[in-house]
Amino acid sequence: MALMIIAPGTRVTSWVKHLERLEPGIDIRVWPDTGARDEIDFALSWQHPPGEFKKYRYLKCIASLGAGVDHLLADPDLPAGVPLTRVVEHSMAQSMSEYVILAVLNHCRQFDDYRTDQSQKKWQPRIPLLAADMRIGIMGLGQLGTDAAGKLIALGFAVSGWRKTPQTIDGVDCFAGTEALNDFLSQTRILICMLPLTPQTKGILNRDTFAKLPAGAYVINVARGAHLLEDDLLAALDTDQLSGACLDVFETEPLPSDHPFWSHPKITVTPHISSITFSRAVAPQIIENYRRSQTGQPLLNVVDPQRGY
Ligand code: GLV
Repeated sequence: MALMIIAPGTRVTSWVKHLERLEPGIDIRVWPDTGARDEIDFALSWQHPPGEFKKYRYLKCIASLGAGVDHLLADPDLPAGVPLTRVVEHSMAQSMSEYVILAVLNHCRQFDDYRTDQSQKKWQPRIPLLAADMRIGIMGLGQLGTDAAGKLIALGFAVSGWRKTPQTIDGVDCFAGTEALNDFLSQTRILICMLPLTPQTKGILNRDTFAKLPAGAYVINVARGAHLLEDDLLAALDTDQLSGACLDVFETEPLPSDHPFWSHPKITVTPHISSITFSRAVAPQIIENYRRSQTGQPLLNVVDPQRGY
């Protein structure tokens, strides 16, 4: 039987190399050169063409190449009953935390302003925003959110977290459910979205949410573009309800060249790189699940399609 990698637009050579290193002799097919579809029983996927999976009758697992599975669940023709898995891996949490810390410190130490000053040869000391005064609110306290929270606390920030169901995390003020959202937002000066994309969280970064933050709050979105209502963000920046935003994900990716975010002075844009799936680090868990699927053992990191993560 064969493992298919289906990730249009993604370079997959290093995936093939690391999977073959761990499982010599494995039959890997890179979509669209799949050969006989009935020979494929395991799929490794990122942004597959919707409707494609229903052509493979013997799939035992569809594994997301990333932490998110919204790209799979958005396919109305996803074959029912085939387990979905996602990546849960330390190096992804590490790279996400690095990004989030960089964005937070960049804002607090006003590096964008210094970059502008430098371009004008202006010597202009500014008063930094102190970590102790900057309560950070993290929406989404899964593996990635929890890792970022711990590292921001170590840097001296006060950290709150908001999630669907209650949880206790050392040093984090945890809020749960819609009824706690207002309290969570009212004290958050830097809001970081690390939520999974589900029907409940789609559009959660909207006008009402921004209005509940203290004036001048800063927003970081490293989750999915569809969490953010882009026009609401622009309006909140115009009125100074928000002082700025750092965005790694967008409704349309790549971000179209005529999009207002590109040239907005208060927005930092990066091309969906906050958390990288390193093939060398992640291949072992893919191979582990591949072996489990061959021998009928329970898979690791299985997604609940109802919950969406
Ligand atoms: C990246 O966006 C991921 O889901 O891993």
